[in-house]
Amino acid sequence: MSRRLPAFTLTAIVTFLLVQSLSAQTAAPTNPVIQTNSPLATSNPVTAATPVIPTTNAAPPMGMQKPQDVPGKPGERSSYSSVHVDGPYIAMTFDDGPHGTLTPKLLDILKERHIHVTFFVLGQCVKEHPEILQREIAEGHEIGNHTWDHLPLTKVVSKEGGLTHEIADTSALIKQVSGKSPVILRPPYGATNPRLSRAIENEYGMKVILWSVDPDDWKDPGATVVESRILNGWKESGGAKPGAIILSHDIHKGTVEAMPATLDALLAKGYKFVTVSELIALEKAQPDKAPTATPTAKP
Ligand code: NI
Repeated sequence: MSRRLPAFTLTAIVTFLLVQSLSAQTAAPTNPVIQTNSPLATSNPVTAATPVIPTTNAAPPMGMQKPQDVPGKPGERSSYSSVHVDGPYIAMTFDDGPHGTLTPKLLDILKERHIHVTFFVLGQCVKEHPEILQREIAEGHEIGNHTWDHLPLTKVVSKEGGLTHEIADTSALIKQVSGKSPVILRPPYGATNPRLSRAIENEYGMKVILWSVDPDDWKDPGATVVESRILNGWKESGGAKPGAIILSHDIHKGTVEAMPATLDALLAKGYKFVTVSELIALEKAQPDKAPTATPTAKP
């Protein structure tokens, strides 16, 4: 007994050391540092090491690191560049007005065709042409906020009171002139990020609207080029398709001149024009990994 005891003790010690060494090896890769293949890891090296629990409704304080953009359910997203719909619906949008002569011309073109569009207006232009904004509303178009001075909001955000002037003052003027507060905003230059878009929704009550078709009409390429780019797309910008949000500007002559032929061609293809808010209301849940929108009534 006395001779076997040391052997047993030795075995126990060796086993203990082996277990310790093994557990040390297996513990190493499961440190509380997020692994690069973890769902919490992001491509951003700063966030990769920080355990961030994504949240769908809390907007973290401004100026901090931007959160993961959480894809929302239909109608619950903070920003849109197109909408998944089951029919041939598209939204034409016109920015930077109202313009004293071109916007009334465009309104005539739209009225003839019974087409409703969305105008993203500048506070400074509404102040100059309130009667044109009233006409836009009276003729069934939607009004969106495009800020007061057309500055990039991603820069304005660091200025004390900057967002209040650019966003809240513009909404207040639109409400004063038209009787309705806008529920959508298009950031100038499309300059936003998930944090800013969420803050615009939570603090100012507006969804952020970008676009899926961009004809670069502000460079005045000519009416036929604007028309072709909207219908067929160009560069990385696809052409009109169901659920598209088409960007253009009612302060450029060539854009307004392009509209009769562009709108007629879209109508001939079977498209139905809706305002941006109507398009969002038509949004359907997108099944996981489904191909892009293939509506039954394809135009
Ligand atoms: Ni603009």
